[in-house]
Amino acid sequence: MSPHPFEVHTSDIQTLRAAELMAWIIEDAVQARGVAHMAISGGHTPRPLYRLLAQSPWQERIPWAHTHIWWVDERCVPPDHPESNYATAYALWLQHQPVVIIHRIRGEESPTRAAALYEQELQQVFEGSPWPRFDLILLGMGADGHTASLFPGDGALQVRDAWVTVGHAPTPPRARVTLTLPLINQARYILFLVTGRHKAPALRRVFGETSPHPPPAALVDPEQGHALWLLDEAVAREADLPFFPGLFRK
Ligand code: 6PG
Repeated sequence: MSPHPFEVHTSDIQTLRAAELMAWIIEDAVQARGVAHMAISGGHTPRPLYRLLAQSPWQERIPWAHTHIWWVDERCVPPDHPESNYATAYALWLQHQPVVIIHRIRGEESPTRAAALYEQELQQVFEGSPWPRFDLILLGMGADGHTASLFPGDGALQVRDAWVTVGHAPTPPRARVTLTLPLINQARYILFLVTGRHKAPALRRVFGETSPHPPPAALVDPEQGHALWLLDEAVAREADLPFFPGLFRK
């Protein structure tokens, strides 16, 4: 029995499934509360999804005028830097959005100031909430099992009394601004997108092993929400976990 709900798809279907689920979640949020809040991740994995969202029918189907787009994390670089998560999403998707409400992490500021400004913006928009509840948080996972910019052994992973903090990556750009684990775990829906056989060892640690030091991605467990792992065939086949469909067993 898998500890986490998951689906295994070809890469193309994985991207389409993510867009479908995103559309459903956002439509449901806007219908229920008049607004949707979604936080997106950076890295390479979500790039096909961002390209897809810039196309029809996703442009017309998702009520973007009522959707606030936030970032899960950001590298402390300027917004036009090739390593910027904002720059990636803007180039592939957001520049094509006729209407979009975005809350950019100011990577051009010092890490602590960027984190403080982002937390202030969250407090203004989620005014009065003890914790912001995102309708959807889109997460990836690194080969070391990190998610957001919560890296194994980094102090950012232990922060429980803030919504935003400064994370420290093992590779440049090292300083990152990131949502904290307790905030991520307030989400209504969390979608993990994980692709590539090189992620299999981390996936096994998240799905298979009980370890005294679980990888950060294994600590994502929404308190009053749902997490779903969308895996591609390459990582599922390599991970070869006992509850994976037979097609992906060696
Ligand atoms: C970032 C992301 C990060 C990402 C993982 C996976 O800023 O890099 O937010 O958490 O999701 O590192 O990255 P890839 O998709 O590039 O493998």
